[in-house]
Amino acid sequence: MDVPWRIRRARIADTDHVAQIEAQSFTDPWPREGVRAVLSSRTVTAFVAESGTRVIAYAIARDAAGVAEILDLAVSPEFRRAGVATALLCKLIETLERGGVRDIFLEVRESNRAARALYMAHGFSAAGRRPRYYRKPVEDAMLLKRGGPAHASERAE
Ligand SMILES: CC(C)(COP(=O)(O)OP(=O)(O)OC[C@H]1O[C@@H](n2cnc3c(N)ncnc32)[C@H](O)[C@@H]1OP(=O)(O)O)[C@@H](O)C(=O)NCCC(=O)NCCS
Repeated sequence: MDVPWRIRRARIADTDHVAQIEAQSFTDPWPREGVRAVLSSRTVTAFVAESGTRVIAYAIARDAAGVAEILDLAVSPEFRRAGVATALLCKLIETLERGGVRDIFLEVRESNRAARALYMAHGFSAAGRRPRYYRKPVEDAMLLKRGGPAHASERAE
């Protein structure tokens, strides 16, 4: 989709838009109050992509002691395959790493080929498996990690 959009920090006022995309994107979505709680948290780094005044995507991470976890990332269905998730993920990684994060983890459904391809293209690799981690439907999670020695040496070059 060839429409202009930009990335900015997420605000609590984005709760309804984020919850709506969440409901369109996941079989077991975070409820609205869960979205609101996360967007209110001081340990969370969150960005949205916005087209005009409409929020079309979001990426949310939490970090502590140099380690971050990407909690959530989704793009409104009609805006997919336009590079929005790529731009959000780059912004999130850059912000976390500039803030001192060394390792970034996330869980992804084993069957989620789109998300796995996205993360692999951004330096994530398999770091483990969490059996029956998801519900609706029950499915294993793949634990992905970005960071560690490979990325430390890339940065040093
Ligand atoms: C996964 C998701 C965030 C990708 O968003 P997007 O804006 O469409 O992604 P991008 O356009 O930036 O695509 C980046 C890369 O991801 C991969 N990708 C994205 N959608 C894909 C699809 N449907 N099938 C296969 N690969 C896909 C491709 O490698 C793509 O690169 P390419 O376009 O050069 O081939 C989006 O499909 C989504 O919101 N899905 C539902 C929620 C979700 O699964 N979130 C991740 C939870 S861990």
